[in-house]
Amino acid sequence: VDLAVRLGPLALANPVLVASGTFGYGDESGDLTEVPRLGGIVTKTLTLEPRAGNPPPRVAETPSGMLNSIGLENIGVRAFLRDRLGPLSRLGPAVIVSVGGRTIEEFEEMMRLVGGADGAAAIELNISCPNVKEGGHEWSASPEPAARVVAAARRLTRKPLVAKLSPNTGRLADVARACVEAGADILSLVNTYVGMAVDVRRRRPVLGAVTGGLSGPAIRPLAVARVHEAARAVRAPLIGMGGITCARDALEFMIVGASAVQVGTATFADPRAAESVLDGLRDFCVEEGIARITDLVGALRAP
Ligand SMILES: Cc1cc2nc3c(=O)[nH]c(=O)nc-3n(C[C@H](O)[C@H](O)[C@H](O)COP(=O)(O)O)c2cc1C
Repeated sequence: VDLAVRLGPLALANPVLVASGTFGYGDESGDLTEVPRLGGIVTKTLTLEPRAGNPPPRVAETPSGMLNSIGLENIGVRAFLRDRLGPLSRLGPAVIVSVGGRTIEEFEEMMRLVGGADGAAAIELNISCPNVKEGGHEWSASPEPAARVVAAARRLTRKPLVAKLSPNTGRLADVARACVEAGADILSLVNTYVGMAVDVRRRRPVLGAVTGGLSGPAIRPLAVARVHEAARAVRAPLIGMGGITCARDALEFMIVGASAVQVGTATFADPRAAESVLDGLRDFCVEEGIARITDLVGALRAP
């Protein structure tokens, strides 16, 4: 079975990546997973300066999912480039560097640092984090700010550019089109849904930041619908995610139009989750007599 996929300018050995924020900088996994077999690793989102993130508690378990309000805790882009990108890029999978910013100027400065970095196969613009006061999902809530970030980044790199979109908008199709027109090569979606949990005895929010981002199987049908919507709005390649735990889940996203998928929350429960998704995709192709995995992309039939 040919598992290779091509997303515009980005060629991947297979369509399974690990999602930003759920795999650190690729160096926390020890030897628990056979990292080199994955199609790609998306780094934890990096910001210009290191960030400590939000006050605890920052995670809460919910039915079939979790809420997190980490708030982009990270070591900062300079430390990442100095200490982490080299070893990470030697693991094998394509490294997609995720960057976030509060202003266009911050995005530009980040791009000047990572836009030409050896070892970065692509850059993912995180314009969809629900857990920061500034520079979060507001960027991709409407087309204009999303397009401004993408256009600014586009001027500063020739690397494949991925725009990661928020599901917390009623204007997803418009935002998707605006990002592609502004120069995004690839769209990835979804980031987490804004959610909240309440400790009823203490009458307090469970999370220190009050609200958080909901992820895991609880959001999968919502996420599949958003990817389907984006696939009908743009021709650009898509990376789908949201609650993927097994190959069958990943196939839903691919059949509605995603060329690749990212596995996030599932990795916390099973560090080998992304690998088993990959194995399951191969098995499915063998069982169904499919020679190339790309034959399944957008293969959705009318109801
Ligand atoms: C603990 C945690 C931290 C996350 N951090 C980031 C991040 O730094 N940048 C980002 O773009 N997405 C981040 N995400 C969102 C995931 O990359 C993904 O979009 C989302 O969780 C949906 O996929 P899943 O249901 O497979 O986890 C984070 C998710 C979790 C659960």
